[in-house]
Amino acid sequence: MKNVFYLLFGGFLFMSLHSCTDKLDESLHHYTDEEFEILTRTLNIPEGTYDYSIVTNIPIQTNPDLPFHKATLGRVLFYDKMLSVDESTSCASCHKQELAFADDSKFSEGLNGQIGTRNSLPLGNTIGFVRYYGTDLQIPSGQFSWDESKVSINEQSKAAIVSPIEMGHDMWDLVQSVNEQDYYQVLFKKVYGNQGATQENILDALTEFVNSFSSRESLFDQAVAQTNNVYNNSPLFSDSQNNGKALFNTHCGNCHDVNHNAIIMTAANNGLDMVYEDKGMGEKTSDPNYNGVFKVPSLRNIELTGPYMHDGRFETLEEVIEHYSTGIVNHPNLHNFLKNGNSAQKFNFTTENKRDLVEYLKTLTDDVFIADVKYSDPFK
Ligand code: HEC
Ligand code: HEC
Repeated sequence: MKNVFYLLFGGFLFMSLHSCTDKLDESLHHYTDEEFEILTRTLNIPEGTYDYSIVTNIPIQTNPDLPFHKATLGRVLFYDKMLSVDESTSCASCHKQELAFADDSKFSEGLNGQIGTRNSLPLGNTIGFVRYYGTDLQIPSGQFSWDESKVSINEQSKAAIVSPIEMGHDMWDLVQSVNEQDYYQVLFKKVYGNQGATQENILDALTEFVNSFSSRESLFDQAVAQTNNVYNNSPLFSDSQNNGKALFNTHCGNCHDVNHNAIIMTAANNGLDMVYEDKGMGEKTSDPNYNGVFKVPSLRNIELTGPYMHDGRFETLEEVIEHYSTGIVNHPNLHNFLKNGNSAQKFNFTTENKRDLVEYLKTLTDDVFIADVKYSDPFK
């Protein structure tokens, strides 16, 4: 039947089918001229979308035809100061791309210069947020925040938006203001149709963008790809880096993961103090066995994410290594991996070993990730 049609109407039908297909493509993946004109008044975004494909296979993806529009919307929200009540603060104020989405101050500044009590966690310290944490749906217990108190990126984002110290916005007011913006009318329509912005949609899109962060192009990644075994010396590494890797794999990898890919130990006490001002997981559980227990952070891009520890107490990696070398305190909850019998472990690293550990940690820096335009500020 089709062939008969083609025979009869030949070129004409072909042309109309063809342009119809084009139109379909356009409505799925691109903007109309009018939409694009509205968007580009405020934003620097491409006519198509960047490829955020690392997130396309996960279950929170609601519409597989539009994966990148959701991440694109999330990107705009992430950088939009409108998310804070006085339009002073965006997510990116405390999570800066050039710092692997961490902040370089001890405590991040939020509304009206107010400061919180914890060091901003880097969002770019994983091989892929979802691969590191699992998806929101699969997480059995809280894993976000230094005290693991948030079960999902949605919950974490909402906490930042409504926190009187961070962004101070009522979610309902925010939905109103977002719906009033012409660029959001276009962006939300693309993903959620006539629903527009809702509390859930805003958080869902932010999550999509944050989930797309993926740091996989460090020297460390190249070295492991080549030797295929993280325990082998790498020809791409200096002797110092190789020695640092061996030390790390022996003494640190059982908590921080030798491959820097997945959570090995979700939280632990690493002997910073005898009495903790911030009790970490002990604070939320009121269980003294969790006092001083904090998230074990991934160390990807660690060179960029100082100051270090939940309270930003160490300025440099050298200070961190000194802590593990001679400074571990025998807290009642100190993890066994950092104990020697009943005492706190003293690794007593030599000067060379300390230098090598730092040299090794710097191989985790991913210059491609921190400059990738698809994660950058889209506002003009
Ligand atoms: C005022 C600074 C500030 C702002 C604004 C902010 N954050 Fe954060 N963020 C932090 C701090 C500090 C932490 C660590 C919190 C804790 O442990 O209690 C954090 C933690 C996180 C985490 C958890 C990371 C992990 O590995 O556990 C995510 C995800 C996150 N923020 C996303 C966002 C998003 C999305 C926004 C915007 C809606 C945002 N943040 C706005 C400071 C901020
Ligand atoms: C028992 C598990 C454990 C072992 C073993 C361990 N760490 Fe840690 N590490 C942690 C925890 C928990 C934290 C966060 C503690 C806090 O902030 O209160 C941390 C924090 C860090 C940080 C700071 C991360 C940041 O984003 O601020 C660095 C760097 C680090 N560790 C390196 C090492 C090195 C190097 C070794 C080996 C010499 C090592 N760790 C061994 C559990 C461990």
